[in-house]
Amino acid sequence: MTAVDIRPASGKLGVLTPGMGAVATTFYAGVFAVRKGLAKPFGSLTQLGHIRLGKRTEHRNPMIKDFVPLASLDDLVFGGWDPIPDDAYSAAMRAGVLTPQDLEGVKEELAAIKPMPAVFSHDWVKLLTGATNVKTGSSTMDLAEQLMADITRFKQENGCDRLVMVWCGSTEAFHRPAAVHQSLAAFEKGLRESDPEIAPSQVYAYAALRSGVPFANGAPNLTVDLPCMVELANEVGLPIAGKDYKTGQTLIKTILAPGLKARLIGVSGWFSTNILGNRDGEVLDDPESFKSKEVSKLGVLEQILQPEVYPDLYGNLYHKIRINYYPPRGDNKEGWDNIDIFGWLGYPMQIKVDFLCKDSILAAPIVLDLALFMDLAARAGQKGIQEWLSFYFKSPQAAPELYPENDLFIQSTKLKNTLRHWMGEDLITHLGTEYYEE
Ligand SMILES: NC(=O)c1ccc[n+]([C@@H]2O[C@H](COP(=O)([O-])OP(=O)(O)OC[C@H]3O[C@@H](n4cnc5c(N)ncnc54)[C@H](O)[C@@H]3O)[C@@H](O)[C@H]2O)c1
Repeated sequence: MTAVDIRPASGKLGVLTPGMGAVATTFYAGVFAVRKGLAKPFGSLTQLGHIRLGKRTEHRNPMIKDFVPLASLDDLVFGGWDPIPDDAYSAAMRAGVLTPQDLEGVKEELAAIKPMPAVFSHDWVKLLTGATNVKTGSSTMDLAEQLMADITRFKQENGCDRLVMVWCGSTEAFHRPAAVHQSLAAFEKGLRESDPEIAPSQVYAYAALRSGVPFANGAPNLTVDLPCMVELANEVGLPIAGKDYKTGQTLIKTILAPGLKARLIGVSGWFSTNILGNRDGEVLDDPESFKSKEVSKLGVLEQILQPEVYPDLYGNLYHKIRINYYPPRGDNKEGWDNIDIFGWLGYPMQIKVDFLCKDSILAAPIVLDLALFMDLAARAGQKGIQEWLSFYFKSPQAAPELYPENDLFIQSTKLKNTLRHWMGEDLITHLGTEYYEE
């Protein structure tokens, strides 16, 4: 007996991505390559992960995709919007993440994905050139309605049973929530009056939720992390999740920091610097877009290390993050971390991490897992913020009265326990006393 009713994953699942740049095209290409048996979906929990069930002596450890009813990769169809008119093959070639040889194997499928005209404004993404594939309309509400028409058309033309939307667009400029975001009524009024505080990503999220489509946000923009969107998601009974894919340096940070804290090793400084040369790096060269990213990255250590609980260990932690646009690197980012730590009697030590990272290679399986898990959540009748998907985000969305959980291992336990709970299996606490009782 499952604890919640989950509708079966029958028929096609359309995955819509606003943004068809490095991450989105690496994701589409990867799914096509896996389907054709050309590559393996490394990094994807939904495709390769197992989940332990019951006692250790039971030896039940099925694959997650055999345990919960997920859409199959063969049933996925892709669509997207982008202000740059390149089809997904040209965009993937330009992004330079996958080699031309690898892209050749999936060229036909990628070339068939043409971007729908985007809702886009340079006010929100300054450093983007070539934005010609853009919608115009009489108001922001008109633009939202055009997106809803795109969604309906896509669903019909592709014979989809269900859709999910995952934001893969550029990082937008940093803005704090405004009056227009405080309620759904205020937001809809703002759409009709073209309130300048409404960002394009919010128009997509609104159009998705109004069209019955769950929405996950891979960028650090607020997008669904707003009272009006939480209200809308609860009203229409759909899941939302965000924000900012946890890849690269932050992934490593949320692996290392919980370990140092578990052993009560002090941290006096954590200096993180990055060089990257892709379009994301170019967009982040604008201080306003960088600010969105910085805020999303900075919170992680503070939450994991809890300086207010451990003032001697973490009270004076100096945390600095730098992102430098350096074109020769393309998508091959280099992230350096210098971590100043101290142990017994305050004796100082250092850890240096030099991560030669391919961001989009780490992000693509996250897009896949989010698409499949958001669809699962919708079929399981889940609505509002999906905190169990924090595992995938740098800055996980949580209820207003809660601090977000950033520790990767707690996030992983939470995700798996959520699946166990939905499927009517015992939660795993790791207590384990039963093995030692007579
Ligand atoms: N690569 C990673 O590991 C990673 C990690 C965390 C977050 N992210 C975020 O994911 C997003 C995508 O990253 P990327 O490397 O693919 O960047 P990218 O620059 O290659 O692609 C972003 C695409 O979004 C498009 N775009 C911009 N505004 C849009 C709009 N309003 N509507 C539709 N499309 C729009 C751009 O034209 C571009 O093609 C960025 O916000 C990035 O910060 C990426």
